[in-house]
Amino acid sequence: MQKIKVFAPASIGNLGPGFDVLGMAISNYGDIIEAEKINEGVIIEEIIGNYELSKDSNKNTAGIAAIEVLKLLYKKYNIKGGVKLKLFKNLPCGSGLGSSAASAVAAGYAVNLLYDNLLTKDELIFPITKAEERVSGSFFCDNTAASLLGGIVLTKSYEPLEVLKLKTLKNINIVIVKPDFELLTQKAREVIPKDIPLKNAIRNTANCCGIIVGLFTNNFDLFAKSIDDRLIEQYRANLIPGFYEVKNTALKNGALGCSISGAGPAIFAICKNKLIANNVGKLMQDEFLKIGYKSNLYISKVDINGAKIID
Ligand code: HSE
Repeated sequence: MQKIKVFAPASIGNLGPGFDVLGMAISNYGDIIEAEKINEGVIIEEIIGNYELSKDSNKNTAGIAAIEVLKLLYKKYNIKGGVKLKLFKNLPCGSGLGSSAASAVAAGYAVNLLYDNLLTKDELIFPITKAEERVSGSFFCDNTAASLLGGIVLTKSYEPLEVLKLKTLKNINIVIVKPDFELLTQKAREVIPKDIPLKNAIRNTANCCGIIVGLFTNNFDLFAKSIDDRLIEQYRANLIPGFYEVKNTALKNGALGCSISGAGPAIFAICKNKLIANNVGKLMQDEFLKIGYKSNLYISKVDINGAKIID
C-alpha cells in the first residue's frame, strides 16, 4: 500500500468525573489524514482547514505521532521508511473536543497501515499519546485511546499502560457547545491544585463507578447522572465564563449529565433523545450568547469504531 486516507473521531476526555481515565469517541466529527509512503522522514505537505497550525512535523501532533510510530516500527520490526502527510483539520484547536488527539491518531494509525499494519491499535496508544504529551506537557490518553479504539475507554493504569474498551449504550445523545474562544490544555491543567479534598475524591470515585455500572447494566439514567465531576470542574469553571449558567440550563431542560468536555472550553451534556438534545443545545448556546460568546453546536452519538480507513 502506497497511499491511504484515515479518519479519527473527536472525543470527550475527560468524560465527567474520569479525569485522565475515561474518554468517549464522538461520531461524525473528526480529523482526516492522507498519508503516502516515502523513503525517510516525516513531511507535513499541507494542512487544509487551519492555516495557523505548524507544518513542522516536530511541532504538530500529526507529525510527532507519525515519527513515534515509525520509531516503534523500526525498534520492533526493523522497518525503515517515512511518510508524507496531508492533514484535513476539521476540529477546532484548544476546544476540548480532542482535536490534537484526533490528528495524532489519524496520522499514527495511517502510518502503521502503510507499513503492513504490524502494530495493533493497543500498541499504537503509547506512541500516539507521546505526541499529545509533547504539546500539552503531560501524558494522558483518555482522548487518544477513545479516538483510536472508539466507544468509551478506561485507562486503568498508566504504568504500565493498560487501556480497556468498555461497553456502550445505544442511545447516548451527546450535545457539545463550544464557545468561541480557545483554551490550551496546559493552562487548564495548571489551575488544578496538587492536593485535592478527600471527600471530593470519594464522590468522584463513586461517580466513575456509577458510569461503568450504568454502561454494563444498560442503565442510561445511572450512566448519565454519574457524569458529575466534583474534582476538577470547579477549578476549570473559572476559565470558562458562563460555565455554571450553561450547565444549569442544560440540566434544567432535560440533560441528565453535564460537564466540561476534556480540558474545555466546550461543555457537553448527555440527553435521552435527539429532541431533548437539540433543544438543550440551543438553550446552552443562548446562555453563552447572553454573555457575548457565539458558539458552535455539535449533536452526536458515540463513535463505535474509532480510527478507520475512508474512501
Ligand atoms: N484529560 C485531559 C485533561 C484531556 O482534562 O487535561 C485534555 O485534552
